[in-house]
Amino acid sequence: MILVDHPLVRVHITVIRDRNTPPDLFRHHLTALARLMAYPVLQDLPTERVSVVTPMAAANGERLAREPVLVPVLRAGLGLVEGFRDVIPGAVVSHLGMYRDHQTLKPVRYYSNFPAERQHHPFILLDPMLATGGSAVDALDFLKSEGADNIRLVSIIAAPEGIQRVESRHPDVVIFTATLDERLDAHGYIIPGLGDAGDRQFGTY
Ligand code: PRP
Ligand code: URA
Repeated sequence: MILVDHPLVRVHITVIRDRNTPPDLFRHHLTALARLMAYPVLQDLPTERVSVVTPMAAANGERLAREPVLVPVLRAGLGLVEGFRDVIPGAVVSHLGMYRDHQTLKPVRYYSNFPAERQHHPFILLDPMLATGGSAVDALDFLKSEGADNIRLVSIIAAPEGIQRVESRHPDVVIFTATLDERLDAHGYIIPGLGDAGDRQFGTY
């Protein structure tokens, strides 16, 4: 697990935790967090050499060898897409529909559009909340079953239980998180967390 620590990350997280932050401001700060996370998450992307001609002379440069595929887990992961696309506008977005059953806490998958021709590209799984880890493990199982072999997971707030579960089931997947919280409550919510990340973004309290 890589904890992305930066003063601005801590400042934006404080705003999204605050229960008085309305959905429009919540989305604004979540997007800023995604932009900040994108740099460490994408730091080791392979590039290949290209040359361009400036108005003055030829110059050597680089381009991404393979554009990443962003996989936001609906709904909450949508809030991380724009920040990442600001940094990599060429990224393909492959939505993954999934919700956590409120009784069993088990993930239910209801939508996917995996880009089969890009299975060997880097996949960036986006979900701001890593609680029990059930949704992340199921999403990773799914992506791997479709052929993805290079996946990293981006969360904003993680619980120790979720980190442990993902690391034991998918040790090859590097998890980036902006903060590691204390624990889960009896309903599987992260404490102190920020509540329901989907509801906070879309106003469906
Ligand atoms: C939230 C969150 C994760 C999941 C995390 O989704 O976005 O996908 O819960 O919990 P877990 O680690 O225990 O699986 P939710 O089910 O609330 O759906 P929503 O985004 O549509 O609100
Ligand atoms: N999903 C959320 O949105 N929040 C939590 O605290 C746990 C799961």
